[in-house]
Amino acid sequence: MITLGIETSCDETSAAIIKNGNIVLSHIIASSIQLHKKYGGIIPEIASRAQLEFIYPVVDEALKKAKVKIDRVNLIAVTKGPGLGGSLLVGASFAKALSFAKNIPLIGVDHVKAHLYAPLLTQKIAFPFIGLVISGGHTSLYKVTNFNSLTLLGRTADDAAGEAFDKVAKILGLGYPGGPVVEKIALKGEAGKVKFSCGNLKREFDFSFSGIKTAVLYNARDKKLTAKNKANIAHAFQEAVFNDIVKKSVLAASKKKIKALVVGGGVSCNRRFRDKLNAEAVPQKIKIYLAKPQYCTDNAAMIAGFGYQLFRKGVRSKLNMKIEPAGVRQ
Ligand code: KG4
Ligand code: ZN
Repeated sequence: MITLGIETSCDETSAAIIKNGNIVLSHIIASSIQLHKKYGGIIPEIASRAQLEFIYPVVDEALKKAKVKIDRVNLIAVTKGPGLGGSLLVGASFAKALSFAKNIPLIGVDHVKAHLYAPLLTQKIAFPFIGLVISGGHTSLYKVTNFNSLTLLGRTADDAAGEAFDKVAKILGLGYPGGPVVEKIALKGEAGKVKFSCGNLKREFDFSFSGIKTAVLYNARDKKLTAKNKANIAHAFQEAVFNDIVKKSVLAASKKKIKALVVGGGVSCNRRFRDKLNAEAVPQKIKIYLAKPQYCTDNAAMIAGFGYQLFRKGVRSKLNMKIEPAGVRQ
């Protein structure tokens, strides 16, 4: 069975052709990130205009690269939210038009949940598992018992983890996106020179990253931002954020008595995060499942794979499917 996946929730326009839920025949990503760099963040209007420009060539290239004619596609899976309204509309409208014109079933997919499918593209994972999504827009912990049965255990009360990386990078004048560059300069930072911590919340699996971002702002304002000082701040910030995420994720697994932790989202590319998670989870015999770096950040392969699994469970979307920019609160 051939699925065409389409992802346009933010600045990436991505299309993928996958066979039977996990054999990736092609995977194309175009990004408008260069156009946003000078603003230090994504400008929605610019992102949606770029989506419109990219969507046809990206889908066409995915089909050509996979050597698949559109008439052989059995399912179209598209991101329905959460994300930027204008960007989502481009992908959803394109998918609906293709579905209608070629009479191909359509399925609208939740972007955050699809991030948890990324590790399943390359490995078999048994249910139940604890799912952690750490991206630019989301930081959420789930108990996952089935492809369409996810229970939210906790989420960020304010900023997402990736958003905090992006804002800290902006404060330190490191450019956008912040995650990769903060990771890089943190390697040169010295432990103990600065100390930050994440907020404590009433609900044990909830997160808060807005306080630490403000603490970084005040710390950076009070000193000369030499390369050494930037590295020390980046190091301390990254340690605090990952200590918090790793602690809560491992706690969720042990409290729910689930020995598998599946992680998705752009922040999970980070090597320091991966090392810390392994160091905490392995002694507790919790198995960690991470995605390949190209499937951590936004991509259509995870949308296609997750859509395929929902389709097998009988889920379908109609041509009047709505986009859900704010997502659906669990
Ligand atoms: O999953 P993603 O592509 O988009 C959303 O769904 O939001 O994640 C993008 C986020 C950005 O905030 C980016 O700074 C962060 O992931 N990120 C990283 C790293 N690579 C990307 N954060 C920390 N370390 C990294 N290596
Ligand atoms: Zn994402």
